[in-house]
Amino acid sequence: MTNSTETPGYSQKVYKPAQEYRDDARIKDYALSYANFEKDPEDFWRRVASDLLWFKPWDKVKEWDYPHAKWFVNAKCNITYNCLERHLKNNRRNKVALFWHGEDETEKIYTYDRLYKAVMQFANALKNLHVGKGDVVCIYMPTVPEQIIAMLACARIGAIHTVVFAGYGASALNERIVGSGAKIVITADVAFRRGRTIPLKPIVEEALIHAPSVERVVVLRIQDPPTALLDDFEVDFYEIMKKADKECPPEEMDAEDTLFILYTSGTTGAPKGIVHTCGGYMVGAYYTTKYVLNVKDDDVYWCTADPGWITGHTYAIYGPLLLGSTIFMTEHTPDYPDLGIWWHLIEAYGINVFYTAPTAIRMFMRYGETWPNKYDLSSLRILASVGEPLNPEAFEWFYHVIGKEKCPIIDTWWQTETGSHMITTLAGEDMKPGYVGKPIPGITADVFDKEGNPVPPNQAGYLAITNPWPSMMRRDHNDEERYKTYWNSKDCQYYSTNDLAIKDEDGYIMIIGRSDDLIIVSGHNIGSTEVESALISHHAVAEAAAIGKPDPVTGNQVKVFVILIEGTTVTEKLIHDLKYHVRQTLGPIAVPAEIEFVDSLPKTRSGKIMRRVLKAKEMGIDPGDISTLDE
Ligand code: WTA
Repeated sequence: MTNSTETPGYSQKVYKPAQEYRDDARIKDYALSYANFEKDPEDFWRRVASDLLWFKPWDKVKEWDYPHAKWFVNAKCNITYNCLERHLKNNRRNKVALFWHGEDETEKIYTYDRLYKAVMQFANALKNLHVGKGDVVCIYMPTVPEQIIAMLACARIGAIHTVVFAGYGASALNERIVGSGAKIVITADVAFRRGRTIPLKPIVEEALIHAPSVERVVVLRIQDPPTALLDDFEVDFYEIMKKADKECPPEEMDAEDTLFILYTSGTTGAPKGIVHTCGGYMVGAYYTTKYVLNVKDDDVYWCTADPGWITGHTYAIYGPLLLGSTIFMTEHTPDYPDLGIWWHLIEAYGINVFYTAPTAIRMFMRYGETWPNKYDLSSLRILASVGEPLNPEAFEWFYHVIGKEKCPIIDTWWQTETGSHMITTLAGEDMKPGYVGKPIPGITADVFDKEGNPVPPNQAGYLAITNPWPSMMRRDHNDEERYKTYWNSKDCQYYSTNDLAIKDEDGYIMIIGRSDDLIIVSGHNIGSTEVESALISHHAVAEAAAIGKPDPVTGNQVKVFVILIEGTTVTEKLIHDLKYHVRQTLGPIAVPAEIEFVDSLPKTRSGKIMRRVLKAKEMGIDPGDISTLDE
């Protein structure tokens, strides 16, 4: 059984996993594994990468030309060969790759063989649309198996996918299509969410009004009777697939070729087009799914993230497929038709590894133990969390109520930019609620002050990754200069995460929050400036500032301060219009929970809004250094 002890300092408790979990963990002795890595980092990654199949081996594991890194130099590979053929060769041909459960209770099952065939045929369908190596394909789809098929089909032929979360509005979608230069958009007529049917195709139509790069739209038609398609421009997903050849050999990709671009909100300007590569990303996704999430061959594994986010890319799709695991995926939100649905699905599918986000856990907490206690959750072996700090209260609830004090809680810290896990508590390690844990073997991280000197234990500072790693972003697709801003200075040469953190005497790291202006709502990154720009594009708004206001369930809510155009009066209708305008522009997750109308905004002398001052005022805390504030 587990036991917990009180320790001084920031951490209240230490939970020790049961012996059976220590034995079950793939990394049984963290210190030993870490020491092995430190002895020869390149050899460490060489050994990890050697588990996978490469068409041609690398000449060099790493090439580091600050701030640019190459990994597995000159190697040739294809991630789908490792996600599919590798398992067919290893007797997993008839193993279930994917259990999918729809909101209407329909179920779809893909074995590895079936997925392999579907991916090859859809890849040929894309080729028939003249999509080839290096072309960009935008995927804007609901959480359906065809989304995975579309992503893998792109990777099969060397096309670059850019998946856009289907909750984004037309303008955000347009920005990502134009930014990536997508040639094809793959979408569906509708998505189902909380019992409602949400038309997606009209959003795509609106997004395409000014998107000259797009040649064709592929539509997965879900509704009956089928939605009408525009001749020569829109084509049906299954019709083009049926007409295509069945065999599609994998394109030989250079390890440094782009696998995908994923847009994530930045603090300034346009969203960042994070570029990940075929080789390094594959190795990071494989390594961490295996050693951090500890997914075993007969597990059923469920990561609740939407494929539109990096967690969906790495841990709902690529990581588990690289491992040959059985994935569970559903359209179900956690609260519809009732708050028992996820627990019911865990019981029904015998989920063993469950990976979710603090915002979901905190929402469940609010409604108590009755819901989960109705279901048999004894299949669960590992619980994992990502996206924002798992506060100690949420940790305790997850650990006691869901994990029944036996499952390790793996709180994984990482970013879209890092591609895969960086800092976490491994399955056999002591757990400290509130702390994510230590850098995993393969990763070096530390907490620094502004000058780049390590801060003493238990003092807050800037979290940095101090060496390059295989799944690191290679560039920002739309802004070569912006990539450089991640890498601190010529002397320190470390990657700045923009997170504030504290490290304790044992090396456990606590994430405090962002040091920039990113607002994380339910684990989704929203740039302050994106919300502000959306508001300012409304005719009644002169200026706007957006901040994250702490919220017990979603982590943060968007609060905005708005200066109206002279002579505008505040009415209920105006408030409604502004929210609606943000919803239309950016999508529902960015809609401000609160709008405060003000006459002025705190700004620096150079005219930059000081959101930090607004936030401090909102929370009744000291705003810190305000020397640059323009009176
Ligand atoms: C935050 C998501 C605390 C952090 C994978 C980071 C976390 C940002 C954790 C990246 C965690 C992610 N504990 N904070 N376990 N995981 N974050 O790019 O601020 O969507 O910088 O990647 O989320 O968000 P992104």
